[in-house]
Amino acid sequence: MKVLIVGSGGREHAIALSVSGSKRVDEIYCAPGNAGIAQIAQCVPIGAMEFDRIVSFAREKEIDLTIVGMDDPLVGGLVDQLEAAGLRAFGPRKNAAILEGSKAFSKELMKKYQIPTAAYEIFDSSTAALSYLETADFPIVLKADGLALGKGVLICQNLEQAREGVKSIMEDKQFGSAGNRLVIEEFMTGREVSVLSYVDGKTIKTMTSAQDHKRAGDADTGPNTGGMGTFSPSPFYTEEVDEFCRKYIYQPTVDAMAAEGREFKGIIFFGLMLTDKGPRVLEYNARFGDPEAQVVLPRMKNDIIEVMEACIDGRLDEVDLQFEDNAAVCVVLASEGYPVKYEKGFLIRGLEKFEGQDSCYCFHAGTKSTPEGIVTNGGRVLGITAKGSSLAQARENAYAATQWITFENKYMRHDIGKAIDEA
Ligand code: AMP
Ligand code: GLY
Repeated sequence: MKVLIVGSGGREHAIALSVSGSKRVDEIYCAPGNAGIAQIAQCVPIGAMEFDRIVSFAREKEIDLTIVGMDDPLVGGLVDQLEAAGLRAFGPRKNAAILEGSKAFSKELMKKYQIPTAAYEIFDSSTAALSYLETADFPIVLKADGLALGKGVLICQNLEQAREGVKSIMEDKQFGSAGNRLVIEEFMTGREVSVLSYVDGKTIKTMTSAQDHKRAGDADTGPNTGGMGTFSPSPFYTEEVDEFCRKYIYQPTVDAMAAEGREFKGIIFFGLMLTDKGPRVLEYNARFGDPEAQVVLPRMKNDIIEVMEACIDGRLDEVDLQFEDNAAVCVVLASEGYPVKYEKGFLIRGLEKFEGQDSCYCFHAGTKSTPEGIVTNGGRVLGITAKGSSLAQARENAYAATQWITFENKYMRHDIGKAIDEA
């Protein structure tokens, strides 16, 4: 069969690699893809938000399955448009992708169906938000309602910071229309864990757990980023936690969406915080995480196409989802200065060292092919991933592989997966 993947990051590279391992797949296309994806798929210069062009391309090439990796096209309704044209697509429709697209929606859903999450209030005007803050406890969390590249969450230590936050989100529109509404939420503390799952509308099958490192600097310092590295599984995601989440979070979320007439098919990514009162939902995403996919997918034993087709056809209950009994670590190689200000266009050396490796991967994010070779083309450049028999081993393997690559202004964190030593 012919598969089209929509997106251009490390996550889409990891998806493309899994798809290339499916015995059912003959041809893989990616729109727009990147220099690494181009080694295993045919990249086409169509942007992820160019819905009409994506639909025409899929029709013309007789694509059997389109996998939408990114949040923006999912929230914008790309799956609906593909389906309207008679094409098969993996990912939630617009009315279900709202689970990620609107934090106000997801909070109301959790409240209505008693899914454990932080207490909150929703505001449509900055005046109301500001007057609420006068009597609030600090720290407090402000969240822009809509998509904001993972940056629309502000943790405010005092009233002054919170006032500035409300102003920048709701008045100065730092995140554009994503800030038309604001969620103000109770601050929680605890370990964070990401659990990604396949969903077919009624059945949910969770994947192995993972944890992201969001801050730019070692020891969780510096600004928030899209993610500087991940490890999987999380030693903090115990059987007891899993049991709680199955009962009170996972299936209840899928059932709540169905009860609302918003049947969810695709990936639900549960961002969880393990508080001393038990696991709580921090956020939902309607897609694989980036860079969570890079440590979860290489450990999946199933044929990804078979699992995705089972989701579309509503027979996920027949799938026995299995993961390798090992660990993986992904270290992001970024451009120095990311996420604030950085230069790009530098030649990347050493990529060929990953050829023929079977438990070490070099997932491309911000890269570009030029006549001189592959160059850096973004803040997050590569996701160096390695498996190992234990997390410590996987970390050692991943950090060893980061040394195979050189480029000017190469930057990485040195403590990815390190929290595991405390477990
Ligand atoms: P989100 O995009 O909602 O996952 O938020 C981004 C990050 O902000 C999370 O990964 C947490 O580290 C932090 N965060 C979000 N909500 C809360 C909360 N209620 N309490 C404490 N930290 C939070
Ligand atoms: N790494 C977090 C996310 O993909 O949202």
